[in-house]
Amino acid sequence: MDWFPETGPSYTVQVSILKDVATLTIDTTGREGLHKRGYRVKQSEAPLKETMAAALLDISYWQKGRILYDPCCGSGTFAIEAALKAKNIAPGLNRQFASSFWPQVPKSLWAELRQEAREAIDTKGNPIIYASDIDRNMILKARENAEAAGVGDCIQFFAKPIHKTTLPHGDYGVVMVNPPYGERISDPVKISQIHKELRRLSDSNPTWSLYAITSADTFERDFGKKANKKRKLFNGNLKVDFYQYFGPKPPKDGENFKAIES
Ligand SMILES: C[S@@+](CC[C@H](N)C(=O)[O-])C[C@H]1O[C@@H](n2cnc3c(N)ncnc32)[C@H](O)[C@@H]1O
Repeated sequence: MDWFPETGPSYTVQVSILKDVATLTIDTTGREGLHKRGYRVKQSEAPLKETMAAALLDISYWQKGRILYDPCCGSGTFAIEAALKAKNIAPGLNRQFASSFWPQVPKSLWAELRQEAREAIDTKGNPIIYASDIDRNMILKARENAEAAGVGDCIQFFAKPIHKTTLPHGDYGVVMVNPPYGERISDPVKISQIHKELRRLSDSNPTWSLYAITSADTFERDFGKKANKKRKLFNGNLKVDFYQYFGPKPPKDGENFKAIES
């Protein structure tokens, strides 16, 4: 192709130069970055990037078969990403890419690949995923997002403040949470209180693991325990830490903890 009409599809070309070597790349994704999966019809004020949530799940102890609970779920990103993983739903299945409109890539190829991805979806049993938030409107939005992602039937959402929540029944589960932090809630006492509630949840079943991503530097002090591991990360421009509290590994023959409904 030697001519790109202004009215045609867009081709974003990027040039980077390092030590006198120029690299030209062409962006097949487009203006909507890869972190936008296409299911977030509604979002919270401080949503976690979908790709970040997926990566944190990957480095956690959570896997299909273990219960997941997010007690400050906002738009439901952790819960939805976990459900997509558990059901083997390709993350870009519900969106278009810049290259979807390029004449060089036959439409039939896209249709074939989407069909392949649909056939790969695991339809056997649902993962057990719970998500709650103090804000009833947020729960309505999270539910809509889960429906849009095709995992509405995999997640149990409920509106509840953290001090009224308890861990779901079952062992070796994982709490994965992005609690509110200073940029959004200005009252440090409220933030500390939420960290303390997370400790209460964690203590209520010592077989569970707990992971929290926050920019609040009082987290460990409020939680009252040093994390087993802490990772520095950026959520967009915001410097955050990912605090990891590991529970024990389930026994090898521990079929009794299986959380998959069949
Ligand atoms: C940083 S946001 C979570 C964003 C979420 N990870 C997402 O991707 O949309 C924190 C959430 O905690 C909720 N929250 C604030 N105080 C709470 C409380 N006491 N109990 C439960 N949830 C609370 C807020 O409504 C907000 O949705």
